[in-house]
Formats: sequence, C-alpha cells, structure tokens
Amino acid sequence: MNLKPLLLTLSIAFPVFASDNQELEVLHWWTSGGEAAAVDSLKQKMKEEGRPWKDFAVAGLAGESATNTLRIRALSGNPPDVAQIKGPEIQEWGTAGFLTDLNDIAEEQRWSRLVPSRVADYLKVNDKFVAVPFNIHRVNWLWANPEIFEKAGAKLPETLDDFFVAAEKIKTAGYIPLALGNEPWQETTLFESIALAVMGSDQFRKAFIEGDSEALSSDKLRESLEIFRRMKQYTDADAPGRNWSDTTSLVIEGKAAMQMMGDWAKGEFIAAKKQEGTDYVCIPAPGTANQFSFNVDSFVFFKNGDPDTIKSQKALATLILEPEFQKEFNLTKGSIPVRVDMDMTDFDGCAQQSMEAFLRAAATDNLVASLSHNMAIGRASQIAMFDVISRFYENDNVDINETMRHIRAAVLADKL
Ligand code: BGC
Repeated sequence: MNLKPLLLTLSIAFPVFASDNQELEVLHWWTSGGEAAAVDSLKQKMKEEGRPWKDFAVAGLAGESATNTLRIRALSGNPPDVAQIKGPEIQEWGTAGFLTDLNDIAEEQRWSRLVPSRVADYLKVNDKFVAVPFNIHRVNWLWANPEIFEKAGAKLPETLDDFFVAAEKIKTAGYIPLALGNEPWQETTLFESIALAVMGSDQFRKAFIEGDSEALSSDKLRESLEIFRRMKQYTDADAPGRNWSDTTSLVIEGKAAMQMMGDWAKGEFIAAKKQEGTDYVCIPAPGTANQFSFNVDSFVFFKNGDPDTIKSQKALATLILEPEFQKEFNLTKGSIPVRVDMDMTDFDGCAQQSMEAFLRAAATDNLVASLSHNMAIGRASQIAMFDVISRFYENDNVDINETMRHIRAAVLADKL
C-alpha cells in the first residue's frame, strides 16, 4: 500500500505542530544494554546544554514497533519532535512535507564534505538535508565465542563450507552452534549475509534493489535459500520469539558459539564488560570479507511551530556530528563514525577492521545497502520481504520456487 498520498494530505492538514512543554520528545528504539548506553551519552550532552530530553523509547523488532508508533502519532497530527528513521523512509516522510530542512546546519558543519556521498544520498530530499546521520553499522558480521571454538576443536569459519564443518563440531561438543532469535528481521539479517556470500554484491543488488527478474530467478538465489534453511539445525529450540540482545547473551555467556548480526551486537559485549580477542571475536560473515552491507542510523526533526523546540531540535542536530560525540557514541554503539575525517586510533579492533572494510568495499564496488535494515527497500517491500523469508525459514513445507516468486513480488511491492 502506498501511503504517500495519505501522508501528503495529513501534512497539509497539520502543517505546524506546537509542543506543550519545553522538553524535546525523542522517539527511538535504542533499549538494549549497549544501545541505551550509547543514547545516554547524547541525553547527557543535551542536559549539559540545558535542553531537557523526554525519552520515548519503543523497544522491539529492530525498529518496527517504533516505526509503527511513529506512524500512528504523526498521522494523528501529534508527532514527536525528533524520531529515529532511516533509509528510503526518510524520503517518504520528507517528500510528504513532515520534516524540517537541516540545510543551514549542514552547510555550517559542511556535511557534504564529512559524510560519504553514498550515505548522504539517503539523508536528502530535493537535494536538501532532512536527516542527520550517527554512524555506519556493518550488518555482515559473525560474533564468536573463542573458548567454545577451542573446546570443540573448531576453526573460525571463513567460508560457508567452513561454517558447516565448525557447526558440526560445536554441536557434537554440546554447545549451540548458531544463536538466532526467530523474529523475521533477525532471520532476514542471517539470510542477507548468506545471499551476499553466494550471489556476490552485483547480483545481490540486482535482485534485491533493482528487482531484476534474472537475478531473482537465479540458481544463486536458490542456493542461498537452501543454505539458509540448512543452518536451522544448528540453532536451539528456544529460538522462537527471542529478541536479538538475549540471543547475543547466549554467545556472551558461553552457551552459543556464533551469532551473525550487525555490529550493534558489539555494544552488548562491551556493556557486559567483555574483552575483544579473549571473550569474543568479530569476523566477517563467512564468504563476505570483501563486502560491506551498510546500515546508517539517523534522526529526523518534525516541523514544529514553537521557537524553543526549534532551538532544541537544531542543538541536537548540531551535536550528533561533532567529533567528540561521534567518538563517544560509536565506541559504545558498536558502529563506526559517519565522519570520514575521524582518527580511529582509539577505537577497538572490530571498529578499525570495519572502517578498513568500508573503505575497501567503497573502492571495489562492494558496498551494499542492507536488505534487512530498511536501507535497500522501502517500507511496503520490507514488510513483505520479512514475511516471505521468515515463512520459508520457519516452515520446511514452504516451497522454494514459490518463495522465489514471492521474493520477487516483495521487491516489486515498492515500485507499484
Ligand atoms: C539499528 C541499530 C539497532 C538495531 C537493533 C538496527 O536496525 O540500525 O541501531 O541497534 O537495529 O535494535
């Protein structure tokens, strides 16, 4: 369903929103241990500037619950002052006229020079910035517990074949090989890493971004789905409904050997005071060392008629790209800074690896917008994609040919 006409009508009906208090209401979904610690650093900085923050955190499903809440609030004429939105959805809200133009701040801070152009493209509507970015998350990571690998006599997997060899050994040694929570977005995150490895960046983009029929009916897509289903035997019986951070805890606590998840998982290891190298290691998801599936967090600012709220919105927008905050936030969040001019010396090994991988992938055309994290496709496609991927994974009777047809329909849903 295309919501654009509805959004446009409502933006005309409610062009200016006056707030009833001086607090800045911020809607986000950063509620896990690592996420909350990262957003706390921003709240603290706002407090120091004398600008009270009213937290409106909606947990769940990597932002799906927060995004649904935002829609209800905004469509009834009562949006928050600030909201976490990313990817193509920024365009949807921006073209419907809801978002504040941030171009004055962008020019002052020279965002066009600081932010990689592939990222900046997402933040603009009619060539004007309407969203401010925090970071760059890499989605195609594997987080491993090295002690379990050692006990099982297994080797960290560089390829998908290696993965299955290691998983067998870990299972025999009595551990859960792969930590996964059966939520559609977590399943799609795993599928994304497999598809990147099997299809390669070019075919992945053709299939999932361009909706190219050849790529969407290719043997490589079929193989990706087969491998995805084969991984299920290495997950545990408690996977249904488990959220992502409880899933990461299985690796932290030495119950599971691996999780394939974006680097917000590192925030959980850090919050649990674990040491990189000894307690946990990060390696690229098997077969994707040269690729970088990117996911950029950003805030947008809803149009508001209250001068004080506008000042607070602008103060917040300005803070996010300041070098000191970029360092503090990203060290806790697990991502890398979105500014290209940052000194990475004080960052940990995973962040340094991530920055190198980002630059290498950008130079070799291996940067890919994340399919599972609302960067590659719009909302209608995203909802349909989660549903198709999850049904295929959770039910062995779902036919692979039918699933491939449904994936195609999901990608095309946005283009209708
Ligand atoms: C967001 C991350 C967040 C993760 C899990 C992703 O889509 O980009 O910032 O930590 O979801 O909540």
